[in-house]
Amino acid sequence: IKTIGVLTSGGDAPGMNAAIRAVVRKAICNGVKVKGIKKGYQGLLNEEIIDMDARSVSDTIQKGGTILGTARCLEFKTEAGQKKGAEICRRHGIDGLVVIGGDGSYRGAQAMSRLGINTIGLPGTIDLDIACTEYTIGFDTAVNTAMQAIDKVRDTSSSHERCSIIEVMGRNAGYIALWCGVGTGAEDILLPEKYDYDEQQLINNIINNRKKGKTHHLIINAEGIGHSTSMAKRIEAATGVETRATILGYMQRGGSPTCLDRYYASIMGAYAADILCAGSSNRVVAYKHGEFVDYDIEEALAMQKEIPEYHYQVSKALAT
Ligand code: F6P
Repeated sequence: IKTIGVLTSGGDAPGMNAAIRAVVRKAICNGVKVKGIKKGYQGLLNEEIIDMDARSVSDTIQKGGTILGTARCLEFKTEAGQKKGAEICRRHGIDGLVVIGGDGSYRGAQAMSRLGINTIGLPGTIDLDIACTEYTIGFDTAVNTAMQAIDKVRDTSSSHERCSIIEVMGRNAGYIALWCGVGTGAEDILLPEKYDYDEQQLINNIINNRKKGKTHHLIINAEGIGHSTSMAKRIEAATGVETRATILGYMQRGGSPTCLDRYYASIMGAYAADILCAGSSNRVVAYKHGEFVDYDIEEALAMQKEIPEYHYQVSKALAT
C-alpha cells in the first residue's frame, strides 16, 4: 500500500476526528501517504480529495463533528457509482481506503474491496447499532450529552411535578435510550427492541408513582418508537398529570468527544491503518470482550445484536 484514503460517511459522530487523526499519523509512521476524501462517498465521486500530512490533523482531537465532512450518498449504492469511485481512487493513486461510518457505509467499503481498493471499515455512529462491536465511535459522547440534558429536564419536571417524555436518537436501536434511562434513573424506558409496552401500563405507573410520593415521572423514549408529543397529550388526558415532551434531536450528535471516544477512536484508527498497511482488505475493526479485533465485512454484517435482557430487567427493577 502506497497511499491510503480516509473518509467519514453517514451521520457524523464525536470522535471521528480522533479516528481520522490516528489513521493519518499511523499511516505516515508506516511510511504510507494519506489523502483525505471530503463529504463521504459523495465527495469521492466529486473528486473532493486533499493531501494530508501530520499537521493536517493538528488541533482536531478535541473537536466534535468530522473535519472531512460527511454525507449520505445514494449514487454509491449503485454498481455504476461504486465502479466510478474505484476508478477515481486509482486515478489519485489511492490503493487503500479507511471508511469511518455505520453499517450502510460498510456496504460501500465491501464494494470497494471487491473492486480492488483494499478497504477497512471503522464503526462510527452514535447509535451503537453495529452488531460486530460493543463500542462505536461517538456513542459515549452522545449518551453523556443526552444524560446531561435529561438531568436538566428532570430539575424543572420535579419543580412543576410534571411527567416528562424525552425522546433520544438511535434510529431503530434503543441503546442510547437504555443507557440514558439507567443513567438518569428514569421511571420508564421505551425501546424499539422491547416494544411490548401498552400505554395503559405507562399510565398506571405514573398514577402509582404519584401515590408513592414521586414528584416527577421521567420517560425516555427512543426515536425508533417516536410520537412523543402525541403520547404526552394522551398521557396527560388519562392521568391528569401535566406532561411535556422534549425531543433532544441533533444536539446529541455534536460536541467535544469524551476521553473514552477519543481513546477508543485513536486505537481503532491506528489499528485500521496498520492492518491496511499489512495488506488486509474487506475487514472492519471492532471492540469485543475487551479487545480490539477485526472481522470480514460479510461476517460482520451477518451478525445480530440484542439489548441484553438482564440489563433491561435491571432498568425496570431500579425504577420502582
Ligand atoms: O445514525 C445516527 C443518527 O443520528 C440516528 O440516531 C438518527 O436516526 C439519524 O442519524 C439522523 O440522520 P440524519 O442526519 O440523516 O437526519
